[in-house]
Amino acid sequence: MMTFNEKYGKTALVAGASEGLGAAYAHALAARGLDLVLVARRRQLLEDTAVRIQQQYRVNVLPVVCDLAAPDAISVVVEATDNKPIDFLVYNAASSWIGPFLATGLETHQNIAAVNTGTPLAMLYYYGGKMVVRGRGGVVLMTSIAGFQGSGFLATYAATKAFCRVLAEGLWYEWRAAGVDVIACCAGVTTTPNYLNTNPGRASWLEPRAQSPEQVVEECLGRIGSVPSFVSGRSNRFVSFLMQHVFSRKKAILTMGNGMKKMYRL
Ligand SMILES: NC(=O)c1ccc[n+]([C@@H]2O[C@H](COP(=O)([O-])OP(=O)(O)OC[C@H]3O[C@@H](n4cnc5c(N)ncnc54)[C@H](OP(=O)(O)O)[C@@H]3O)[C@@H](O)[C@H]2O)c1
Repeated sequence: MMTFNEKYGKTALVAGASEGLGAAYAHALAARGLDLVLVARRRQLLEDTAVRIQQQYRVNVLPVVCDLAAPDAISVVVEATDNKPIDFLVYNAASSWIGPFLATGLETHQNIAAVNTGTPLAMLYYYGGKMVVRGRGGVVLMTSIAGFQGSGFLATYAATKAFCRVLAEGLWYEWRAAGVDVIACCAGVTTTPNYLNTNPGRASWLEPRAQSPEQVVEECLGRIGSVPSFVSGRSNRFVSFLMQHVFSRKKAILTMGNGMKKMYRL
């Protein structure tokens, strides 16, 4: 059986890699022997993550400071990678806004759309396109079970996550014959600093059990190549099954919105 890097190649790019899930992907890919390009905005945190990984796994790590909301983000990243072939792409970065849709400016929603849909679309087109030409590669789009239905007080974020799942599934179909595996990882609550900083309360009895970033990442890297998308964690799969196949769509949307209201005391 081929090892991970024999199957996918030498270098991975993780977009949104300074901490949490993104850093966990970086560690897991370095542990599989891949060199890394790590992208995020906070230079110090990103460089510290890069140095730690480089020392721990003896792989090459290139940190690239870039705001993935910027219209020219893709050019900045492409220029920084200096045409280095990217064999494996993880698009993990995301932006969100928790609260009533109209309680923030349109630019907040546009920023979320840029980070969560516009830039991954551009990265898929560019790096995925090159993988298809080379005849091998892998792509992970991080998405969320929040994207399985309309999610009140998280409306734009949830809509962008639905976009990513459906995009990944379509490209899984198109690119598998070209030797490129695409997967959407639909995570539930994951104990990243970003999530914990939102200071969530308890939503309801239906709240799935939280996973660690490492659990989500190992599940995803174990499943890529076999399915177009998956829900990580048994407890998330159970709740997701109820929401999609047992509840009516109206009840699922009400459950999600009521849960958000309670969790964030809205
Ligand atoms: N945590 C959860 O409970 C959960 C649940 C379901 C799905 N997910 C999905 O999992 C992924 C990661 O989730 P997370 O929020 O917990 O984050 P995370 O992986 O812990 O951190 C997000 C990373 O993205 C970077 N990032 C964010 N905005 C960026 C921007 N505009 N430009 C460049 N880098 C940016 C951050 O670094 P800088 O701040 O340094 O830029 C950070 O390294 C997201 O796609 C999210 O939708 C998470």
